[in-house]
Amino acid sequence: MAHSSAEEIRNLAEEAEAEIGKAASSRELERVRVAYLGREGKLTAVLRGIGRLPDEERPAAGRAGNEARVAVEAAMAKRRKQLAAQKAAASAAEGLDVTLPGRGVEVGHRHPLMTTLERLLDIFVGMGYTVAQGPEVEWYTLNWTALNYPPDHPAMDEQDSFYVTDEIMLRTQTSTVQIRAMRGQHDESCPVRKLDWRFPPQEVLSHCRCEPRPTRVVAPGRTYRRESVTLTHSDIFHQLEGLVVDEGITFADLKGTLTAFLREYLGPETRVRFRPDFFPFTEPSADFSVNCELCDGRGCRFCKQSGWVEIGGSGLVHPNVLIAGGYDPDRVSGLAFGFGVERIAQRRFGIEHIRTLYENDMRFLRQF
Ligand code: DAH
Repeated sequence: MAHSSAEEIRNLAEEAEAEIGKAASSRELERVRVAYLGREGKLTAVLRGIGRLPDEERPAAGRAGNEARVAVEAAMAKRRKQLAAQKAAASAAEGLDVTLPGRGVEVGHRHPLMTTLERLLDIFVGMGYTVAQGPEVEWYTLNWTALNYPPDHPAMDEQDSFYVTDEIMLRTQTSTVQIRAMRGQHDESCPVRKLDWRFPPQEVLSHCRCEPRPTRVVAPGRTYRRESVTLTHSDIFHQLEGLVVDEGITFADLKGTLTAFLREYLGPETRVRFRPDFFPFTEPSADFSVNCELCDGRGCRFCKQSGWVEIGGSGLVHPNVLIAGGYDPDRVSGLAFGFGVERIAQRRFGIEHIRTLYENDMRFLRQF
């Protein structure tokens, strides 16, 4: 065959080497090998034809053929090595590269209101209080009657309410938990424990057949009022209620407790002010305020130019409320207080608008 000249063999070998150099994977490389050196391969066919060449061409063609086979196989081996090295480098990069910056994992965190509440509870638990809870959907009797609100008392209008039925409402204050907590201090066998929550509050004590344990609780929770949202008011907000019932509790205990608590939470320099106030369930009653931190007493919108931020209400538990809890007011007395959690969180973190605590804007929340 005239074509099987040494020249043709060298051309074919060059062609094969070029294709080998371009093979981008070991699979492509194998395809090139089969195309040239396989049983039906182009180079194989040409090499096979050497035997039929005329005598004078055969030695040169034979040499060229051997050289071609060696060169192509060497090119194959070299390329195979290159591809393997590339692959190793690629998978090493994919597997682990300690120089790459880490992927940011966003860790969730607690809402400033919840961290506030946690801190508040911590302080009171440290003072020996236990945490009590009651339902947000509550009996009318516990929100009003048992707390010594006379029928149609104007104070009920100050806390405009959401009603579910005539008997059931969304609680306007966590003071409802006072009644539940006190009745919970009666012996398991005492009839007071089994009284319906709608039972006339002033008849509760007469059903007591035990000596109720002292009460010392804080009750956190949501409260609801029909009011429009302003800088400092929201229709849903959180309160923390406190109640202590024991022998010999006085107004000095109340002032001391609240002052110690406020200085613990807001800092030892905090100034606390008590003023006479009125609540149906305490007598005497007092509101309590702390110095405004936003303006440092100079007067701003948050403190309504007064330099003081009112935190909550307090007082000595009214005898009628003790009776509704099944306690004898001749033997024990109590102190109570309640305040808005939002207000005190705003004061602590310098948050001017209560709204921002509910909008869940990440730019706000990320700051806490
Ligand atoms: N419940 C009152 C309110 O929501 C706050 C309050 C005042 C709670 C005096 C008390 C208290 O326990 O003694 O306005």
